[in-house]
Amino acid sequence: MKLSVLKETENGETRVAIVPKSISKLQGLGFEIIVEKDAGAKAAFTDSDYANAGATIASNVSEAIAAADVVVKINPPSSDDIAALKGGQIWLSQLFHRLNEDLIKQLEGKGVAAFSLDAMPRISRAQSMDVLSSQSNLSGYKAVICGADNLGKIFPMLMTAAGTITPSKVLIFGVGVAGLQAIATAKRLGAVVEATDVRQECKEQTESLGAKFITVEDDGVKVEGGYAKEVTEEYLAKQKEAVNKSLAQADLVITTALVQGAKAPVLISQEQIEMMKNGSVIVDMAVAKGGNTALSEADKTVTHNGVKIVGVSNFPAQIPTNASELLSRNIDTFLAHLMEDGNFKWDMEDEITTGTLIVNNRTVAS
Ligand code: NAI
Repeated sequence: MKLSVLKETENGETRVAIVPKSISKLQGLGFEIIVEKDAGAKAAFTDSDYANAGATIASNVSEAIAAADVVVKINPPSSDDIAALKGGQIWLSQLFHRLNEDLIKQLEGKGVAAFSLDAMPRISRAQSMDVLSSQSNLSGYKAVICGADNLGKIFPMLMTAAGTITPSKVLIFGVGVAGLQAIATAKRLGAVVEATDVRQECKEQTESLGAKFITVEDDGVKVEGGYAKEVTEEYLAKQKEAVNKSLAQADLVITTALVQGAKAPVLISQEQIEMMKNGSVIVDMAVAKGGNTALSEADKTVTHNGVKIVGVSNFPAQIPTNASELLSRNIDTFLAHLMEDGNFKWDMEDEITTGTLIVNNRTVAS
């Protein structure tokens, strides 16, 4: 079977789905690998790196797609990709299918099978294939670095001959994969860290990293399968009360709160931003889903009342080498799971297959 790796075309994207290190593993699964010219260039993987690892280089996207049984990309297919696809091929990328109904219809019309990487079930055995987790983890690190860079202060306490510098205070909203990495990174840099989440199990995880957990005393939260589903207005009001003192003292705030399948909750109002210290910074990691503050704007820094609100929609693209390495590992593990003796298993009893196979035109694809 031939597997083509496409060059990403979305604005600001710098990652690549497969890195040279994965090629021998994919060959071991029975694939012949084709890589579109310059696919890894922005992530520091050259065409020679791929060729030396055993891949063939295709000179453009249509050549790469035309040659493939399986096409791999990180982001959903562009209109050019869709035009070039033909019946029987297998597409694998993030599809965000709940938000992209038209795209799914177009893929169905093409007679292809399409797997969505972002639809990976959140079960233990799928952890190594979960691109959302691997990328959130890196994003949590990068968000702290971005915050530190925007702050006119340093994180650690420093005693110098010229005087003592007190440590910066960091407050984190949402203690999921990104939030936990943000806590760990801010602690490593010497900040005093506090965090809050609607899920009570986050308290122990936060404390185990040496940070303080802010508990909101209210039962107006529904948690399903480990995820925050719904938060009542009353809960949000109590959360504001619980965090306001910390917010007013914080130098850096990092927001990571997401609710599956819905817009991100607004956790910091304009009024609360106005309570914050002059020179403080908010890094909003939920900005691609609408943002956790009332004033966040995607890929912009808004300054309000001396507070900088930094909205970055694709942190992994700022660290493309590591982000691509982890993605590639997620994808080669996923393909190994889907394959047997050089062919796809199409195991419709398997939760990982059925959860991710969003477009299923198996009669043509098999
Ligand atoms: P996420 O990215 O969907 O959300 C980030 C965090 O925001 C969550 O912890 C959520 O509870 C919190 N949040 C939502 N609304 C909030 C509000 N109003 N106020 C404060 N916080 C709010 O979540 P993520 O990081 O993807 O993971 C959530 C959980 O799922 C974690 O426990 C993680 O360990 C687990 N997980 C399990 C996986 C597996 O078993 N394969 C893979 C990935 C995550």
